[in-house]
Amino acid sequence: MNTRERDLATPASTDPERVEIEIDGIPATVRAGTSILRAARENGVGIPKLCATDSLQPFGSCRMCLVEVEGRDGFPASCTTPVEAGMKVRTQTESLAKLRRNVMELYISDHPLDCLTCSANGDCELQDMAGSVGLRDVRYGFDGENHLDEGVDASNPYFQFDGSKCIVCSRCVRACDETQGTFALTIEGRGFASKVSASIGEAFLDSECVSCGACVQACPTATLMEKSIVEHGQPDHSIVTTCAYCGVGCSFKAEMKGDQLVRMTPHKDGQANHGHSCVKGRFAWGYASHRDRVMQPLIRDSVDDPWRTVSWETAITHTAERFRQIQARYGRKSIGGITSSRCTNEEVYVVQKLVRAAFGNNNVDTCARVCHSPTGYGLKTTLGTSAGTQPFDSVMDADVIVVIGANPTEAHPVFASQMKRRLRQGAKLIVVDPRQIGLVRSPRIEAEYHLPLQPGTNVPVINALAHVIVAGNLADDDFVRERCDLDSWDAWKTMILREENSPERVAEVSGVDAGTIRAAARLYASAGNAAIYYGLGVTEHSQGSTMVMGMANLAMATGNLGRSGVGVNPLRGQNNVQGSCDMGSFPHELAGYRPVADAAVRTQFEQHWGVTIDPEPGFRIPNMFDAACAGNFKGMYIQGEDLAQSDPNTQHVEEALSSMECVVVQDLFLNETAKFAHVFLPGTSFLEKDGTFINAERRINRVRPVMPPAQGKDEWRITQELAQALGYEMDYASAAEIMDEIAELTPTFNRVSFAFLDEVGSVQWPCNDSAPMGTPIMHVDAFVRGKGLFVETDFVPTEERTTRKFPLLLTTGRVLSQYNVGAQTRRTANNTWYGEDLLEIHPSDAELRGINEGDLVSLTSRKGDITLKATITDKVQPGVVYTTFHNPETGANVVTTEYSDWATNCPEYKVTAVQVAPASRRSSWQDNFEKRARETTKVADA
Ligand code: SF4
Ligand code: SF4
Ligand code: SF4
Ligand code: FES
Repeated sequence: MNTRERDLATPASTDPERVEIEIDGIPATVRAGTSILRAARENGVGIPKLCATDSLQPFGSCRMCLVEVEGRDGFPASCTTPVEAGMKVRTQTESLAKLRRNVMELYISDHPLDCLTCSANGDCELQDMAGSVGLRDVRYGFDGENHLDEGVDASNPYFQFDGSKCIVCSRCVRACDETQGTFALTIEGRGFASKVSASIGEAFLDSECVSCGACVQACPTATLMEKSIVEHGQPDHSIVTTCAYCGVGCSFKAEMKGDQLVRMTPHKDGQANHGHSCVKGRFAWGYASHRDRVMQPLIRDSVDDPWRTVSWETAITHTAERFRQIQARYGRKSIGGITSSRCTNEEVYVVQKLVRAAFGNNNVDTCARVCHSPTGYGLKTTLGTSAGTQPFDSVMDADVIVVIGANPTEAHPVFASQMKRRLRQGAKLIVVDPRQIGLVRSPRIEAEYHLPLQPGTNVPVINALAHVIVAGNLADDDFVRERCDLDSWDAWKTMILREENSPERVAEVSGVDAGTIRAAARLYASAGNAAIYYGLGVTEHSQGSTMVMGMANLAMATGNLGRSGVGVNPLRGQNNVQGSCDMGSFPHELAGYRPVADAAVRTQFEQHWGVTIDPEPGFRIPNMFDAACAGNFKGMYIQGEDLAQSDPNTQHVEEALSSMECVVVQDLFLNETAKFAHVFLPGTSFLEKDGTFINAERRINRVRPVMPPAQGKDEWRITQELAQALGYEMDYASAAEIMDEIAELTPTFNRVSFAFLDEVGSVQWPCNDSAPMGTPIMHVDAFVRGKGLFVETDFVPTEERTTRKFPLLLTTGRVLSQYNVGAQTRRTANNTWYGEDLLEIHPSDAELRGINEGDLVSLTSRKGDITLKATITDKVQPGVVYTTFHNPETGANVVTTEYSDWATNCPEYKVTAVQVAPASRRSSWQDNFEKRARETTKVADA
């Protein structure tokens, strides 16, 4: 693919009416409301332009796009003039040519004439337009007042701003406002003195800029330019692929110069991101070639030994031999595997198949266990499908948006920008979160209601919202009568109307003012379209599944399901959480969430796989750990998950891993879990993968390799060879073949194939004969389960309580620049913004403990203690502290507990009773951390 995308200059009109016009004597039909400039470009007529681009509203400042319109005086700007029926436009006349040349001459007279050595040479609209208008001479000279000495702001690690090249077209300012919604840029000064300014004359790095790259993308000159392009030069080809960070699933063009990646540019046709990006996908890809990447397989007999570098063949034979010995000694069920939500569907599918067909048990689980497993359980139980109900674009039809336990601007930034666009158009916002997340108040956005509940009280709050709606006769009775199970409706109403669910009683438990609960409930119920978006602040609780069902109850009761603008929508953390669950990674389900206990389902897979599948569900991750500690579980194949850092109650995880005889880690880096491993199989980065990811809206996106596997082997081949070494004949020739098998065995994927995805771009499952082009909105005419089921959601408080010893509640989350355990982002310049985990504490709690900004503090729970630096902020309420878990040396999970969701065992990361105190030295766990890091990463022959 060529690297430059077509630019139609102004956004498409959505008006269904069509009008006939004439451009340079040629008839054309375009949508009413289209600008003349776009109409011309749609019909192959290239009117020059500089300040217009089709991702932004027209601005009309550069005067390059002037045209003549029959019957009108003067020369209107074609970007800001809409077409009218019968309009006759002339785009090329002598007068126009002269005018355009004059304008261009003025621009060029204040522009460095270094085109040949400029980093944008060949990709500069100013250069193109100068050529297009036929500018040959600049009459004004360069001696007068000019901007040629404006300096370069190189403070941002990924892009630079060279003021001498700026033509003040304002595209960057508008991109920051309209596309990103950060409002970090302004045009400062007037007339000749006007110039682009980040915040108020600050360096980009010190400004409010969040490095999304939208301004760089929009800039028509070399003013805003990626440093990678400055260093390496312009790309020569590009390949469309999918970001491997979060569940938004943004499409990118990986722009290559030969075999070197020089830029990731958000793809305009990407159906999840429409050409937008965040700092991670856009810039933080350098980890893929980081020196820490392991390129050869490693083995060792004991974790006390140094690693030995071996061939792939030796590593795989050795692993198979160890697993066989363990099974011979401890039984068939003594080993298992973990699939990764960071890997492709194809890679995940073969791991669960390895476990079922070659290990001969169902001991497979996935990292979704610790994030969104309650989503699967809750939405399947109530609505019938383990997935969100809407496409992202649906938010543009929402009148009220409820964000619960999610922080989209930090964790799902591109979707957050879209949501903010809708909020700026007038949709109302309700935020339910213990912290004052960025959305509560940000430029041109103010939440109508913020419900700052105590961690652990989601369920009573959702019940109280429902109580107000049912008691106030605000439910949509017609919808419920037609679409839902009425027995469950009656039982749920009785439960919800109990006094304990009244706002006043819930206020006592949750700390949220009863009046605010009432007002928020009325706003949600009375909206035309109300949509719920939620994250791990909902699921990672002892009642995570209950809360998911509580939200589904609320949406059903108010008829907010089955059309655009409504729904219950999980914001998935990792790039392929949805896919890894869909692929049969849970110990009780085969691909497509079909029970392994169902003989008919098993038979279908058995016939295809040529093995007998164990009818008994296997171990979940926590069961594996418990069995390991009890001496019954001895071997684990871990695909791309850092259990030792990301799972709760670190000491227990470490004890379990230490109890095993063969821990196999397949990953890019020697991570925390690798410290306990006996075999390390180097994995591939997303740039080397061929396959698919599924984002939070069930969208199946292609992941295309832009370079061959750096360590010499596709990850699915590693798994396949291990299966073969264990005696199971797995024999795929390509990733596409794996998808073909998935499609054949999974009813919701029946029509999916790589060829189909290459043709249509992407598709949302179910995609089968009943929905050949996929299913953007679920449950349109009926719920997948038939009648929607109301489930009673009694509040059962977590056993994790504050005490005199542990008087504060710790909750955890993420920041924009880092990602999860940080394995990738910590190996990029994203550390510039957030290099270490900090503990947020309210000023009153800090004062009480004598803690000042930046002090080292100890964070102690009944499980353990760590130290980290404190930051004092009223984003958290008194009694609540907050931290991130991006750095292994912080050990945030040393303090989290063993409590988990009653239905799915999803850990209760979001509620831990703790004490915070000033500290003078690091904790003993952290002292050990470094020692162990040194000892366990040694390679004997390195
Ligand atoms: S990088 Fe994004 S946030 Fe920063 S100034 Fe540009 S558009 Fe605004
Ligand atoms: S930095 Fe680029 S986009 Fe912004 S005003 Fe200057 S030339 Fe236009
Ligand atoms: S929003 Fe998510 S998917 Fe999109 S670029 Fe950022 S990290 Fe990648
Ligand atoms: S493109 Fe129309 S005025 Fe700039």
